[in-house]
Amino acid sequence: MSTTTDVIIIGAGAAGLFCAARTAAEGRTVTVLDHANKAGKKILMSGGGRCNFTNYYIEPACYLSQNPHFCKSALSRYTQWDFIDLVSQYGIPFHEKKDGQLFCDNKSSDILEMLLEECRRAGAELQLNTSVEEVRKSDTGFTLKTSAGDYSCRSLVVATGGPSIPTLGATGFGYDLARQFGHQVFAPRAALVPFTITDQLSTLCKALSGTALPASVTCGDQVFNDDLLFTHRGLSGPAILQISSYWTQGDTVEINLLPAIDLTEAFKEAQQQKGKTHLKTWLASLTTQKFAEQWLAHHQLEDRFLAETGKKTIKALAESLHQWRVKPAGTEGYRTAEVAIGGVDTTELSSQTMESRKVPGLYFIGEVVDVTGHLGGFNFQWAWASGAAAAEAL
Ligand code: FDA
Repeated sequence: MSTTTDVIIIGAGAAGLFCAARTAAEGRTVTVLDHANKAGKKILMSGGGRCNFTNYYIEPACYLSQNPHFCKSALSRYTQWDFIDLVSQYGIPFHEKKDGQLFCDNKSSDILEMLLEECRRAGAELQLNTSVEEVRKSDTGFTLKTSAGDYSCRSLVVATGGPSIPTLGATGFGYDLARQFGHQVFAPRAALVPFTITDQLSTLCKALSGTALPASVTCGDQVFNDDLLFTHRGLSGPAILQISSYWTQGDTVEINLLPAIDLTEAFKEAQQQKGKTHLKTWLASLTTQKFAEQWLAHHQLEDRFLAETGKKTIKALAESLHQWRVKPAGTEGYRTAEVAIGGVDTTELSSQTMESRKVPGLYFIGEVVDVTGHLGGFNFQWAWASGAAAAEAL
């Protein structure tokens, strides 16, 4: 006995649930299959438990892909304003944290509950604890062998996300399925992920663990201005997570730890006005006490009165702070990465509908596709927009 439905969606995450609700609302029968025991686990963990569900300033330029034009159509047809409308209809309280990033006031589960309610209202079926063992193309669509029995459907949507945080049920299954149907997959790598440091800088990072400073971080021609956090393993914080998406093994990252001031100029003024202040105390006033102590010690700079501090010392300090060059050993990998860069090659998908150009009826949505957003709600907006694009066509 096999269950027949119009549409099967593999993956009950952000993209899969959203697509299911919209497709079922158009009158299709929809079943969502997921091997996890709970839907939307990444939604629950997202945004530090408050789900940064979209951003006021969604721009294609905030997405990485081998084909930067691919995301434009879907993002322009289902926008952040559409999702904000939906959130507002459900009376979910939210706020802008900074830079257009919208977070729930209460909990991420508000967003997940909203998606599940949308699925319930539209009549989409959710089948959890179900592993998909085999997928085949049939004359009328697709047949699936699963741990919960056989299914057949006219259209199949792959919404299995990327491989980051395997403990939440993440797998590379979507990539395998894409390859099975002749699609190219760009090798994924961890992104929006902290750097690990193993050289002599690791002692400094450990000593400063927990210290956060506003920074300007550059890799190649990409620059991000946001907070940097020292950790026991290396460097994290939003500025580092953002730049990690543009970093490849072996690259050096240049960091300005005092982007708001010119240290040499500020020193000249301070030397005249506060000559009897120690260099460490002055630096602490610009950063933190712990940072000033550790930074001067690490760079072997003498802590004298400002009046007695020479030009050479200030030049060295200014260079160390404004052009701190760091060569990360690597990243923390999929264990902590928010997303994976890479995925199903978009040149073989329709940017209007997310349908495969090789296999009619087969769709890829969300993170499994080679479209990766910046930090700040961009990845969820891609999940909503790509899910909506597919739902229109299903
Ligand atoms: P998602 O990963 O959401 O869903 C995939 C589903 O497929 C899962 O339910 C999984 O169990 C299922 N699945 C996988 N393999 C399967 C298989 N073989 N068989 C059956 N089911 C299978 N983004 C953002 O915009 N704002 C934010 O605040 C955050 N915060 C954040 C925090 C953390 C800790 C992480 C890890 C990630 C974020 N993100 C984020 C990124 C965001 O979570 C991510 O981009 C979306 O969840 C992607 O949505 P998808 O539906 O594509 O995959």
